[in-house]
Amino acid sequence: MSLSISKTRAPWRNLINSHLNKTEGYEFTIATVGYDSHGNPVPRVRTCGFRGFFPELELHSSGQKDMDQQVEDGGNPHLFESDMLAFTTDVRMEKLEQLESTGNVIEAMFWLKEVMVQWRIKGKAYSIGNPNPESEREYGLRPELFEALRVQDDYRGDLSGDADKWTWEKAVTKYFANHSPVMRGSFRNPPPGQPRSELPSNPDLRLGQKVINLQDSVARENFRVVLILPEEVEQLDLSDLDDVRRQKWTLLMDEEDEDGPDGKWVETEIWP
Ligand SMILES: Cc1cc2nc3c(=O)[nH]c(=O)nc-3n(C[C@H](O)[C@H](O)[C@H](O)COP(=O)(O)O)c2cc1C
Repeated sequence: MSLSISKTRAPWRNLINSHLNKTEGYEFTIATVGYDSHGNPVPRVRTCGFRGFFPELELHSSGQKDMDQQVEDGGNPHLFESDMLAFTTDVRMEKLEQLESTGNVIEAMFWLKEVMVQWRIKGKAYSIGNPNPESEREYGLRPELFEALRVQDDYRGDLSGDADKWTWEKAVTKYFANHSPVMRGSFRNPPPGQPRSELPSNPDLRLGQKVINLQDSVARENFRVVLILPEEVEQLDLSDLDDVRRQKWTLLMDEEDEDGPDGKWVETEIWP
């Protein structure tokens, strides 16, 4: 498989960042494709918390304290950035199965009312964080996902030393640490979507648990970070209703050379 990746920062990144910085809430809508009981494709949407562009994540102080106490070097060196949008989820929910059974297609959508702009991001999404290294799907994909990481522009460290210290495991753990203990505990909830009348046979699965241990095996079994690789991004700007603007960026992939995939973003202004 070849992923859609550009080695240079996407041209829409600074714009969406400036809009997100002016926004209070960080939720977005995530659409996947599922199948109804007759096997027909059906749209599925839900709200998820946007966790920024992987792997950049500003941890709150208590999350960083847990990282400092429990993770080697307090986590990864601040080395990489990417255009992959991140959210976290529970593997027992429906969206991951829907992604895997439909070629990983996803659409994410923000309506940022403070700036009167809608952003739609279409692409493919992959989950990381399976603690079982025999998960070929994820572990086979990691080298390809690694291609989507770029060294940050303002990085001034020891590149080879820091690259050696960077691991996927620390990256995923940081997203787990970013959740409060009670949110971490939600990954030990009874199975999402199952009837409440059915009590789980596993006594570890209960509502309202608090998790401090970042390696809690029950919670980490269920916790995943989902990475969205954008292929088409669209901005609808309603800030001036006399002159509504709609812009589209499409990632065009070239023939892959020995340096791996490297697409080019093409920008088009379209009628709203
Ligand atoms: C404000 C808000 C934030 C949410 N954040 C997430 C999230 O980050 N990840 C997630 O999987 N579900 C989140 N949910 C729950 C989802 O909307 C949804 O109910 C759940 O993921 C199950 O969906 P699924 O079975 O279609 O996968 C959030 C819901 C709300 C209302």
